Amino acid sequence: MKKTLLIAATAVLLTPAAAMAERTGEEIYKTKCSVCHAAGVAGAPKFGDAAAWAPRAEKGIDALLATAITGINAMPPKGTCMDCSDSELKAGIQYMLDAAK
Ligand code: HEC
Repeated sequence: MKKTLLIAATAVLLTPAAAMAERTGEEIYKTKCSVCHAAGVAGAPKFGDAAAWAPRAEKGIDALLATAITGINAMPPKGTCMDCSDSELKAGIQYMLDAAK
């Protein structure tokens, strides 16, 4: 019994965050980013607005990810998704880019 508990506890401790189920870009967008990006709050490039996203898309996904992590003007760091991994954030950005084509 004790041994089983110990093994279970060790497994939990050793499981890296990255191995946890990744959320999709759509999930990230809907739960975190849509708050501002759906309506274009505070100058946020609006979801599905090709004209608003085109100049952003030109920077490339890696540059966009970098600004999304640090935040820019009214855009808070990580778009308030503090528990988002970099790849989850990237998926969220890609989801918005794809919708604005
Ligand atoms: C509190 C409002 C808010 C939330 C929440 C938010 N954003 Fe933003 N976002 C903004 C604003 C405002 C801008 C425009 C900033 C500027 O360029 O002045 C922006 C810009 C961006 C850009 C363009 C950055 C660039 O370099 O041009 C990306 C990418 C982005 N947001 C991604 C996200 C993602 C991904 C999420 C969800 C995880 C998110 N945002 C959540 C407000 C928000």
